[in-house]
Amino acid sequence: MNIRNRKAEHIEICLNEKIAPDYCYWDDVKLIHNALPEINADDIDTSVTLFGKKLDFPLIVTAITGGFKGAEKINGNIAEACAELGIGMGVGSERAGVIGVEPESYRIVREYDVPLMIGNVGAPQLVPQHSKDFIGSDEIETARDLVDADVIAVHLNYLQEAIQPGGDTNAEGCYTAIRELALKYPLIVKETGAGISRDVAARLKGIGILGIDIAGMGGTSFSAVEMYRAQDIKDEILAEMGKTFFDWGIPAPASLVDAKCGLPLIASGGILNGVHIANSIAMGAGCAGVANAILKEAAVSADAVKKKLNLIKEELKVAMLLTGCSDIKQLSNARYIVLGKTGQWLEGLE
Ligand SMILES: Cc1cc2nc3c(=O)[nH]c(=O)nc-3n(C[C@H](O)[C@H](O)[C@H](O)COP(=O)(O)O)c2cc1C
Repeated sequence: MNIRNRKAEHIEICLNEKIAPDYCYWDDVKLIHNALPEINADDIDTSVTLFGKKLDFPLIVTAITGGFKGAEKINGNIAEACAELGIGMGVGSERAGVIGVEPESYRIVREYDVPLMIGNVGAPQLVPQHSKDFIGSDEIETARDLVDADVIAVHLNYLQEAIQPGGDTNAEGCYTAIRELALKYPLIVKETGAGISRDVAARLKGIGILGIDIAGMGGTSFSAVEMYRAQDIKDEILAEMGKTFFDWGIPAPASLVDAKCGLPLIASGGILNGVHIANSIAMGAGCAGVANAILKEAAVSADAVKKKLNLIKEELKVAMLLTGCSDIKQLSNARYIVLGKTGQWLEGLE
């Protein structure tokens, strides 16, 4: 299976199959209602500054795609919407683009004035693997230029690699490789749906990265995605493993709390609406992130993405009104409780 097919298949699977657990961990977080908020909804300021860039509201459409023909349209639609809404965007793994596979599918984002553009490389590709496309410093430079990135995200996706046929499962040396990159480039580190623990956050904090996208469990499961691909090629072992690890990882809200280390945290993994964003900010995130929640729209048009993002922003504003918060700083101090499985996770992690 080459990269081009893999990225196209990920989109197909995420558009058509059940790839997230039924349980919504972000719904376990309940902001405390303020019946007498004493603020004017018209005056609510949702803006935040992240990595020196001002966002109109605290959201990034995180890494999704690139590297096959259909990805150009998806990235173009997302970039147009993010530019108009004034929020951040990440492109998918640039492994394909740096070796010359459909570079236009990434480069398209440069046509739009996205306030925070995030490039993307995989940590497993920073160290020797049995796959040949090892990414060195020159390729990182290319990845940055391809999308004119303000920041580069190094993704951690060993769950996916472990279930993927022929996955890159050597994790030895990744930390050192990330540390070396952080000396040269503005770097963030992101998970891809299994979450970041306090130990990993603390180790990453020490090496000069700018922030962490915790990308916890509860949204897109790459174990599920790879399960469908394994079923397709009739690899029974990997298909069964994909099922076993479907909901492996730290639920996103629990990861957000566990990973608090003083670095700006992006809360993602299963964020579906503006209330979830408000919840994440109250729990300590500097910004939230969505991927799958806008994918269907991104496959259709920029207008569809804009409509969805506008809805999310309006929901955020209503949550701010109903908690009496006129700006994001106040929201970060809003009272909340955590119920259900997420509450149990937080108790267990204490
Ligand atoms: C179709 C698809 C492809 C993705 N590809 C990448 C990728 O190339 N690099 C990466 O860092 N994350 C990738 N992700 C992970 C997302 O950026 C995000 O961390 C994860 O999906 C959790 O967010 P969600 O629950 O809102 O989807 C991808 C997600 C989806 C849905």
